[in-house]
Amino acid sequence: MPGFEFFGEEERKEVNEVLETGILMRYGFDAARKGRWKAKELETEINKTFGSKYAQLTSSGTSALTTALSVLGVGYGDEVIMPCFTFVASFEAVLSVGAIPVLVDIDKTLTLHPAAVKAAITPRTKCIMPVHMCGSMADLDALKQICADHQLLLLEDACQSIGATYKGQYLGTIGDAGTYSFDFVKTITCAEGGVVMTNSEDIYTKCDGFTDHGHDHLGIDRGADLHPFIGYNYRISELHAAVGLAQIRKLHTFLAIQKKTHAALKAILSAIPEVSFREIPDENGDSCSFISWFLPTEEQTKAVIAELKAQGILAGNFYWFDNNWHYIRKWHHLKKATTLNALNDLQREALLKLDTQDFSATDAIMNCCVSTSISLAWTDEQIKDKGDKLAAAIRKAIG
Ligand SMILES: Cc1ncc(COP(=O)(O)O)c(C=O)c1O
Repeated sequence: MPGFEFFGEEERKEVNEVLETGILMRYGFDAARKGRWKAKELETEINKTFGSKYAQLTSSGTSALTTALSVLGVGYGDEVIMPCFTFVASFEAVLSVGAIPVLVDIDKTLTLHPAAVKAAITPRTKCIMPVHMCGSMADLDALKQICADHQLLLLEDACQSIGATYKGQYLGTIGDAGTYSFDFVKTITCAEGGVVMTNSEDIYTKCDGFTDHGHDHLGIDRGADLHPFIGYNYRISELHAAVGLAQIRKLHTFLAIQKKTHAALKAILSAIPEVSFREIPDENGDSCSFISWFLPTEEQTKAVIAELKAQGILAGNFYWFDNNWHYIRKWHHLKKATTLNALNDLQREALLKLDTQDFSATDAIMNCCVSTSISLAWTDEQIKDKGDKLAAAIRKAIG
């Protein structure tokens, strides 16, 4: 997925423009910055590129989620339904606002199973948070319907799916709010950064204040700003925004490369009858940053992983079932409610229950699933070589 493979003159130019003025902060210092407002420019570019009405940059994808949850009014006692296959940041954000992460099964879309979401709704449920994992999307029509039926908020964690669409709309712009991460391994990167996108002026205005200590940003004297509510510092710097600005202009090039490589790998893997692929609710909208595939059994999948390892070609092929960051099976710190400061009682009780919750339906999907990440830098020869080697290893391992 990484845009860092395509760094060049464009990123250097944008960063140098910031360094020339020395104004590294996104707010204030109006005269000294000589008209250079990289964060503001990037927010405008995000709205233009993805079709959102409003965008608020943040210091990371995690702080974008925290901001969105807070601004949507999610807090103490509220439950947020989210998938058990995601990145730890998704539940960290929920916990950080005092709310309760309710982890439920996924289906072969590799994200929220709508029936599992419905079954998890309680009077405390406030928000559904699909996580569009590995470049592709959740079944958003089904989730939107559940939200409408139960008056719930929809917050899209689209941190891993920049550039993916669902029925013509970019992921992250469909719910009440949505987030992207621009961390180092994302489709476009600025080292550390994130964004909250929304079509609501009210949500946006609150995000704008929340990420900067509650400043109302109404005057030109920062010291005289009022603070209509308490906020925090989740600001992005001008340096980071400058890199993001160069990267977003390359997004469509990145996506075109990913789609071409994905098609080539899929053609090679499709020739193996035992291989099946992730279900994608809108195939045209896949950002193709990964190709996720399944084998019929856990035993066969583990044999393939062992074979890839033995041949020294495992890198870039992710067996999430055994991964410490992405799947509940290894989130022992979460299931034991191990925190440095005290959780509230409702959070603690809910986390401890996760330890005995039955995730066998998801285990049966994850233990047969491998996601192969797609590099922007591969030549056509390398794509064919990698695909052929992967296919040969699969055939050898499954016999
Ligand atoms: C699904 C998901 N959500 C949130 C995040 C957090 O983003 P960041 O690393 O920018 O804090 C990530 C990062 O990998 C992610 O994969």
